[in-house]
Amino acid sequence: MSQLLLLRGGRPLSGEVKIQGAKNSVLPILAATLLARGQVVLRSCPRLRDVDASVRILRSLGCDARWEGDDLTVDTTGMDCCGISDDLMREMRSSAVFLGAMLARCGQADLSYPGGCELGPRPIDLHLSGLRELGAEIREEGGFLHCRAPRLTGREILLRMPSVGATENLMLAACGAEGTTVISNAAREPEVEDLQNFLNACGAKVSGAGSSAVAVEGGRRLHGCAYRAMPDRIAAATYLCAVSSAGGDIFLRGAEERHLATVTAALREAGCDIRRDETGISAVCRGRLRAIRPVQTAPYPGFPTDAQAVLMAALLRSRGATVFEENIFASRYRHVGELARMGADIRVAGRVAVVTGVEQLHGAPVRCTDLRGGAALCVAALAAEGETRISQICHIDRGYADIARDLTALGADARRADEKENDS
Ligand code: EPZ
Repeated sequence: MSQLLLLRGGRPLSGEVKIQGAKNSVLPILAATLLARGQVVLRSCPRLRDVDASVRILRSLGCDARWEGDDLTVDTTGMDCCGISDDLMREMRSSAVFLGAMLARCGQADLSYPGGCELGPRPIDLHLSGLRELGAEIREEGGFLHCRAPRLTGREILLRMPSVGATENLMLAACGAEGTTVISNAAREPEVEDLQNFLNACGAKVSGAGSSAVAVEGGRRLHGCAYRAMPDRIAAATYLCAVSSAGGDIFLRGAEERHLATVTAALREAGCDIRRDETGISAVCRGRLRAIRPVQTAPYPGFPTDAQAVLMAALLRSRGATVFEENIFASRYRHVGELARMGADIRVAGRVAVVTGVEQLHGAPVRCTDLRGGAALCVAALAAEGETRISQICHIDRGYADIARDLTALGADARRADEKENDS
C-alpha cells in the first residue's frame, strides 16, 4: 500500500529535532564493510530505504547484517558471492560503490549497470576508467559488468571531474591494491572525509580526504570497528529551509554548520537568523524572506545540488526573484511542475530556473518526482494555506528516516496516511 504525506501549512514552526546520520556517508561505508574482517557496528544508523537496499545487497553476498535497536551490525566474514543481481542493482543508483570494494575483497565482481534515475543519466565511466587504471579488467556486455582483478596496483589517478561516487569507489578499490594510490581532482565532500575516517578506524591508511588529493596505502588487513557517521547535512538543510518557508524558531540537534555553510549563507541573506553552537544549529525566521543573489550548484565546497530544490521551495514567497543554476545534474528541476500546482512562479530554461516570489501558496495534491524534489514539496506545503497531499513518498523515504515525525517534532501539522485511506 503506497503512502501519502498530509501537510497542513500556514503556521510557524517551533521545536527541536535530532539530525539523522548522513545517508551519503552510510551508503559508501556499508560497501566498505566488505573490506573489514570482523564485525562493524554503525551506531545510530538512519533507517532509510537506501540503507535497507544496501543491507539486502550485503546479505545477497553472504554477509550478515542485522539491526540491534538503532545500531546496524555487519559482519562480512561469511561473504561467499561476488555478484549483485540486476534487481538489487536497480533498487539504488549508488550501489555502484560496491564494485570497488568487491574487487578489493575478492578480485572479481559481476553486476549490472546501476539504473539511471530521476535526475537524468548517471554514468559511471569515471569509476570504470579509474578501476581499469588500478588493473581491473572490465567487460561491459548487455548492460552487465564482468570485472576481474587478480591483482590491483596502486598508482596516481586523475579524475576528469570531482565525482563523489568515483572518488569513493576508487578509495575502496585502492585499499586492496599493492602500493599507494593517489586520487587527484578527488571530490571534497564531507562524506568522502567520513569514509576516510571509517576506513582508518578499520586500520586503513587513507589521508587527504576533503582536499583534492586522496592518498591510500594499499595492502593493509582491515578489521571491524564501531562507527557513527557524520550528521546528514542535507537533512539539516531541508529543515532550515522548512523554517525559512513557514517561519518560526527551531533547533537542529547534532547539525554541524561547517558542512552546509553555503546553505546557511543563502538563508541568512534571505533574512533568516541562524546561529550555531557545539550542540547544533538554531534558526529563527519571521516575516517574508528576501530574494537572494544567484544560486549556482557546484561540487563541494560550492552550493550542494542536493539542497537546490529545498532552497527553491523556501523562496517561493520571497520578495523579488532568485536565479538558480543547476550545474551538476541534467534533470534536477522535476519538482518545479509540482510546486507550480501550489501557486509557485518558476520559469525554467535549461540549467537555469528563475523563482519569482508570490504572495500566497495554496495546498494541492502533488507527487514526489525524486528524493530531494519530494522534500521540497514538504517545505512548500508548510507555507501553503490549507492541506497539501503528497503522494509517492517512497522517494522521500529513501533519504529521510521519517520526515513526518521530524516535521511534527518541529511543530508542523504533518501525518502519513495510506493512499487508499485518503481516497475516502
Ligand atoms: C553523490 O552522487 C550523492 N549520492 C548525490 O546525492 C549527490 O547529489 C552527488 O554525489 C553530488 O554531490 C551519494 O553519495 C549516494 P557524482 P554521485 O558522481 O556519486 C557525473 C541525494 O539526493 N558523472 O559526483 O552519483 C554525474 O552524471 C543524492 O542524496 C559522470 O559523468 O555524484 C553527475 O552529473 C542525489 N561520470 C555528476 O558527475 C561518472 O563516472 C556528479 O556525479 C560519475 C559521475
